[in-house]
Amino acid sequence: MKSTAEVLELTGIPREKLYYLEDCGLLKSKKTKRGSRETREWHDGDIDLIKRAWTYMSEGVRVKTAFERAKKEVEQRNAALDAAPSSSMIYTFANQKGGVGKTSLCFHLAGAFADTNKRVLVIDLDQQGNLSSALIDDIYATRGTIADLFLHDADINDLIIPTKTDGVWLIPANLDFSTVDMKMAGDKYADEILQQKLSSIIEPFDVILIDAPPSLGIATRAALNAAHDLIIPVECQKWSVIGTKHLDAAVTQIKARSNPNLRLAGYLINKYKSARTVEQQYRETLIRRHKELMFKTEIKDTVAFTEAAAVSQPITRYKKKSEESQVIVALMREMTERYLTREQEQQSSAKRVA
Ligand SMILES: Nc1ncnc2c1ncn2[C@@H]1O[C@H](COP(=O)(O)OP(=O)(O)OP(=O)(O)O)[C@@H](O)[C@H]1O
Ligand SMILES: [Mg+2]
Repeated sequence: MKSTAEVLELTGIPREKLYYLEDCGLLKSKKTKRGSRETREWHDGDIDLIKRAWTYMSEGVRVKTAFERAKKEVEQRNAALDAAPSSSMIYTFANQKGGVGKTSLCFHLAGAFADTNKRVLVIDLDQQGNLSSALIDDIYATRGTIADLFLHDADINDLIIPTKTDGVWLIPANLDFSTVDMKMAGDKYADEILQQKLSSIIEPFDVILIDAPPSLGIATRAALNAAHDLIIPVECQKWSVIGTKHLDAAVTQIKARSNPNLRLAGYLINKYKSARTVEQQYRETLIRRHKELMFKTEIKDTVAFTEAAAVSQPITRYKKKSEESQVIVALMREMTERYLTREQEQQSSAKRVA
């Protein structure tokens, strides 16, 4: 959700026009505890709509026509993004800080991507096995786990299993993975195993989401080597603001040595408590520091994500119409949009070089 001030800044629409759209019943904002209209909040998914509608309105198009035109355009764009061919989207969620939402985001996004008829593979690289536990009943009763890939040179195809979430497959993890760091310490190949094995997957996936643990050991390095895109979830707290230095250094090193394709898709604010002044300040620091690298979609602190995961349902299936579900869909679309933009940029720079 965005505050009124943020909507005005992001879209350029004058305040009275924004309120007029709402008075006409075209938009709906959410009341906050503080009550006044100034403090209302607006859906992330409506920002683009408001921006486009305002462009038409400022060209003299009548309000309702402008809004309808903008709405149609946004619907067409969303449909195109949901159907976008994404045969090679491989995302790693990493941050050595614990509890920022890496696992939770992988889980709910997997459901959202699968809802758009994508085949989704999630790879659990965390010995805690939290992601696996949300997706399958018994993480100790599988025919193999990610540890077998690292320790026993298993065929990756043998480790992929269906889950309780339709359209989502899993390479599970459990405590067996805890020995990998010790047994493979100093083995350079360990960091690159996953990257290599991914290329031998027989049934291709549209989207691969990799959940890294809260450390910078072999698992996180392997996840960074295997990915095209890195998403760093952050909380608006002191440690998140100062704490990604080591991860940033690891990314630079991996890009230079073994995965030149790795891109930082962006920092993603999660568990945001917008009523807290201190969080607002850290949010501003993050935005000032990372600028375009911040995802526009921000996720609030709300119990719905935990509730949904507790009953093994991604939020888009647990509470389809909820604000939380909408924000995950908005994030999924922003990921696809950023991915497609970067692909285009890379293609045109490759052409320039040629
Ligand atoms: N937006 C949110 N609002 C409220 N709770 C959240 C939100 N996102 C995640 N959580 C909860 O926060 C807790 C930590 O989340 P999660 O396990 O996804 O973090 P993590 O970064 O994977 O942690 P770890 O580093 O230990 O692997 C979980 O209970 C999860 O349900
Ligand atoms: Mg986790």
